[in-house]
Amino acid sequence: METRIWKMPGDKPNLAMLKEAAQLLNQGEIIGFPTETVYGLGANALNEEAVKKIYKAKGRPDDNPLIVHICKIEHAKELVKEITPSALKLMENFWPGPLTLVLPKSELVPDIITAGLDTVAIRLPAHPVALKLIELAQVPVAAPSANISGKPSPTTAEHVWQDLKGKIAGIVDGGKAGVGVESTVLDMTGQIPIILRPGGTTREQLMEVIGEVRLDASLHDSQAAPRSPGMKYTHYSPEAEVIILKGTSHEQAGKIKKIIKENRAARVGFMISQELAAVLPKNLSQNIVLEILGRQGDLETITANLFDALRKFDQKNISVIYAESFPEINIGAALMNRLLKAAGGKKV
Ligand code: TXA
Ligand code: MG
Repeated sequence: METRIWKMPGDKPNLAMLKEAAQLLNQGEIIGFPTETVYGLGANALNEEAVKKIYKAKGRPDDNPLIVHICKIEHAKELVKEITPSALKLMENFWPGPLTLVLPKSELVPDIITAGLDTVAIRLPAHPVALKLIELAQVPVAAPSANISGKPSPTTAEHVWQDLKGKIAGIVDGGKAGVGVESTVLDMTGQIPIILRPGGTTREQLMEVIGEVRLDASLHDSQAAPRSPGMKYTHYSPEAEVIILKGTSHEQAGKIKKIIKENRAARVGFMISQELAAVLPKNLSQNIVLEILGRQGDLETITANLFDALRKFDQKNISVIYAESFPEINIGAALMNRLLKAAGGKKV
């Protein structure tokens, strides 16, 4: 299949191009498109055949449900049994934005979207191109991240192209995704909201608006089974082995220096802050590759650059990547969740 590219730099929706993309969605094709978190792979959520194409193109296990994207709060009504007052409060405070709400589903939502669950995940993204595309398609759009299952999520159209060229009808290129990790998935079916996946909306932000918010047990206990089906799979894995550095910044710098000094022939990567890069020896051998994520205190930028850095190492034939660790506050919780998954829990 030929994969078309519609380029609209600077996040500016190009109406003529988006009409073509929307028409293909309406014809049951699947399309890559930008959101503020990562790129999504969209299909008409009400067309089961189209949704099947998503699972096939990504190689996604069929027990992993999809998020349904809408462009107006009122469109949530028809997808769920009931919008509780606290769910409405969250929608009004955080939509458009990187928050996905899990609610009891209505009859309208096909089982293939929810992988047979009686709940549905809904999100209203904060990206002008995504919003315009959904509006023009006039249907809810099911969209997982637009990567091959298990690979780092795509933050640029180029990443989508690397993974899915020839397998999907087109890619809308709206520049780099700003947040760089996926939305926060919040279970709203119980008394107290539970974070199933930490993401672009922080727990701190949520608690300011609705009080107590819990973390799914699997997020702090590696033995507990996650309640979000997608969280049980290995994720965000580049080809290389990823190992997270532990300790204070000073201790991490010491470990890196030691690894560099003792390294003989292996191609080793370091994914680190500007601050750690600054204290390393200047003349590094060709076997040492650095990807600098940003300033230590700027967790937003570090997060935005994470998946791109993981993909870059693969293009440079690195066998081991050592990753700096960051504080798990605010967006740092999502950042470290993705890093830990990429590392399969390995720390040194
Ligand atoms: O930022 C995002 O959320 C991106 C962009 C494209 O919107 N999408 C995304 O989709 O990350 P995906 O499919 O890669 O991740 C969806 C997550 C999975 O962990 C899935 O198991 C969970 O949401 N999920 C979906 N429906 C669910 C449900 N009914 N109950 C619990 N978890 C659900
Ligand atoms: Mg994904």
